[in-house]
Amino acid sequence: MTYFIGIDTSTTATKALLMDASGKVLGVAANEYSFETPHSLWSEQSPTLWWDATTVSIRQVLAKTKVDPSTVKGIGLTGQMHGLVLLDEKGEVLRPSILWNDQRTAAQCDEIRQRLGKEKLIQITGNDALTGFTAPKILWVQETEPEIWKRARHILLPKDYVRYKLTGEFAIDCADGAGTILFDLKKRTWSPEVLKALDIPAEYLPKTFEGTEVTGGLSPAAAMELGLPAGIPVFGGGGDQAAAAVGTGAVRAGVVSLSLGTSGVVFATTDGAAIEPEGRLHAFCHSVPGKWHFMGVMLSAAGSLRWHRDTFAPGTNYDTLLAPAADIQPGSDGLFFLPYLTGERTPHPDPLARGAFVGLTVRHSFQYLTRAVLEGVSFGLRDSFELMKNAGLKDIAQVRVTGGGARSPLWRQILADVFNAEIVTVNSEEGAAYGAALLAATGSGVFQSVESACDATIQITGSTKPGKDQPVYEKLYPLYRGLYPALKPTFAKIGSN
Ligand code: XUL
Repeated sequence: MTYFIGIDTSTTATKALLMDASGKVLGVAANEYSFETPHSLWSEQSPTLWWDATTVSIRQVLAKTKVDPSTVKGIGLTGQMHGLVLLDEKGEVLRPSILWNDQRTAAQCDEIRQRLGKEKLIQITGNDALTGFTAPKILWVQETEPEIWKRARHILLPKDYVRYKLTGEFAIDCADGAGTILFDLKKRTWSPEVLKALDIPAEYLPKTFEGTEVTGGLSPAAAMELGLPAGIPVFGGGGDQAAAAVGTGAVRAGVVSLSLGTSGVVFATTDGAAIEPEGRLHAFCHSVPGKWHFMGVMLSAAGSLRWHRDTFAPGTNYDTLLAPAADIQPGSDGLFFLPYLTGERTPHPDPLARGAFVGLTVRHSFQYLTRAVLEGVSFGLRDSFELMKNAGLKDIAQVRVTGGGARSPLWRQILADVFNAEIVTVNSEEGAAYGAALLAATGSGVFQSVESACDATIQITGSTKPGKDQPVYEKLYPLYRGLYPALKPTFAKIGSN
């Protein structure tokens, strides 16, 4: 038997997953860390944490599974997207990494739009400049820490710093590359025009690869640290959202994945480099070679439900919390919830947006509020679907739902009704790390393509079809859509006080 390792360098932990060539997961080990917020809106992490957690997690998963290290035939990488890692000419880290959830770069986003023109920026990169992305972080360092920028020679993303430690190579996959907004989306590599406009030397950027391509071999030094043989190929892998889509089998146009974690991510594969003309959706390369994807990100999805529970019914388990909400009629008797508890990204890229209950009356007891939260998050996620449909995505045959929120049958039914689409659950629960391992196995020739790897390993475990409440939600959705535009000026005023 041969084995593959998937490594996920996430914001909260690094996970190592060991999978056999049939796709069966033998073991997982994860080591946690935290991030720093030295100023409000900042979010930083030391790259050393990722490497330390990688070495410990790999050693732990090998010990746990008792797999002979010489039978490991490939390593696939994934991780938090958009983070900026700067190295000097010796490959030493110059400052803590500025992470995807850092919000300090509003001015730099404006500047990028100004230098390139918003329309051209979207035409080339597929995306508008958002604070989360990498490019504005680079401008921030250029402007605010010129002494650091002067010494910078290499720009990497978090998982690619781990790759550098594993192989000594400077390389990136196309999915994470596109998330920098320095990419020519169609060409799947760096855009000379964007780099020039932003004064970023092309030689600072890593070489670009597809998710299934070999980016280098495990160096003798890394091999010693990890307890693995030198030379094991390390594959491109993908940013966490693209790799997670592989891990749930969302690799063909028409199959959408919906991840209901703290944030909510709607992810749709496209066969070409489709863009939303106003940049309201993210348009990135997929980690499936030759495919792209749209993505909408809601910042507080299951996070809204957790806030509701922790604030109004602390300590209650989710089954107990949700059971009474099932008895409430769809629409919660005219009560709407806006899920913008931490601002929003899609479809309203507005850090000042706020959450709200609208339509309260004396008849609304606690369970109405609970149901309104489930419905409001579902409506908000539908906003991303609508943008995708308007941008040309035709048939949404199936929505594969994952994450904590997917465990609730009530929420799955509401989602099926609000989206008017079949909602299915799948057998794979390890998300991005599993996707990264599948990309490595495909690159090694175990599977013919990423699509066939997914067909061979990922099965549907449950299905929820739209039911009798679907027409009710269809009528209510326009009311929900009207709420943000009506409240936006008020949110802005609240925010500027
Ligand atoms: C994707 C995004 C997050 C990070 C952290 O655009 O910002 O999903 O990748 O997981």
